[in-house]
Amino acid sequence: MQLKTLRLKNFRNIREQAFVFHPEFNFIFGRNAQGKTNIIEAIYFLAELKSFRTTNRHDIISHGADCAKIQGVFEKDELSWDIDISLTGQERRVLLNSKKPGHRQDYYALIPLILFEPRHIYLFRDSPSERRRYMNRALYVQDVTLLGLFQDYDKVVAHKNRLLKEGAPDALLCVWNDRLISLASQIIYKRLRWMEQMSQVLTQEYRSISNSADDLRITYLSTVKALNDNVVTLGEQELAILLQEELRIMQHRERERRESLVGPHRDDFNIFVGERSVGALGSQGENRSVVIALKLSQLKLFAQKHQKTPLFLLDDVASELDEERCRYLFDYLKKENTQAFLTTTDNSRVVNDFVGHATSFFVENGAVKL
Ligand SMILES: Nc1ncnc2c1ncn2[C@@H]1O[C@H](COP(=O)(O)OP(=O)(O)OP(=O)(O)O)[C@@H](O)[C@H]1O
Ligand SMILES: [Mg+2]
Repeated sequence: MQLKTLRLKNFRNIREQAFVFHPEFNFIFGRNAQGKTNIIEAIYFLAELKSFRTTNRHDIISHGADCAKIQGVFEKDELSWDIDISLTGQERRVLLNSKKPGHRQDYYALIPLILFEPRHIYLFRDSPSERRRYMNRALYVQDVTLLGLFQDYDKVVAHKNRLLKEGAPDALLCVWNDRLISLASQIIYKRLRWMEQMSQVLTQEYRSISNSADDLRITYLSTVKALNDNVVTLGEQELAILLQEELRIMQHRERERRESLVGPHRDDFNIFVGERSVGALGSQGENRSVVIALKLSQLKLFAQKHQKTPLFLLDDVASELDEERCRYLFDYLKKENTQAFLTTTDNSRVVNDFVGHATSFFVENGAVKL
């Protein structure tokens, strides 16, 4: 799968610019505040139909313009996919091969991608909601059909919260708890399987990127307390029984707090480096290595499952890694045959190693310098 071309118009500080990308590495160089991350953001937008930096469309449309355009051509399974996105203050219009795309899931399945941005280093210091988002996203990049499950679950939780706020009768809450249990047990099951697969590759990735001999252990922190001692071997039905029991125990508390307290929408995960929790004790360097190891493990699992690789977007990663680690990361991406897009202010370290495998773009004031 490959992004062949990108054309932007009135996207942030990019007035009009076309890009022809390399199937392997694309280096986006430039001084600070020139538009490097804006290009990564545009590629992300093509795939996810949203930004990773803002939820406000006006941030994206160039100051003084009415409409931003993002057009990309992808090649996948020997087919060409033409994407044309127009953003105005009022609407987002998407055309896929000149037609409105069908089901959202099919659209997202088209362009799987993994993003690294410097902020991700704080994943284990951020609030649990960031880690839940990360976990769910990692899951649906692997299997887009899960998007529907997550959305259904969110709706059930929202409805249950409304009922709790209104002080609805037990019988009605019971009906919604049954729905919640059925979806929650599927989500927790998927997350646990994902963690199991991740733990098989994570330590090796971490050791390579950090030059350390430590083991990494990934643990699920559940609002279903019985789960925390005994996670890996449970099936969906057993999870459903544990959820039911926890909901029963927490029934009064949920009534008191008037919100839904049990389920994957309140769960979390953590990683231990040796015996130390990376969030609580880990150094900045450890956090960085763990997060990069997570992303590389995601790439590996995706490649194992689909026999192809997602796009890899790396914003400013070079500034986060020393030369040896940078080289390891780039060699890894080369070996996995992934199409990578990397921004950096410093071009001295990498370019010479990639002659014939990369295209470089020098960005200045929102335009590519020739
Ligand atoms: N809607 C907009 N219209 C015009 N310019 C914008 C808009 N949004 C952001 N910009 C400009 O885009 C530039 C920032 O671009 P970007 O974040 O891509 O920089 P960068 O090259 O990645 O810098 P750094 O190296 O600091 O990360 C800034 O000059 C900012 O003023
Ligand atoms: Mg940037």
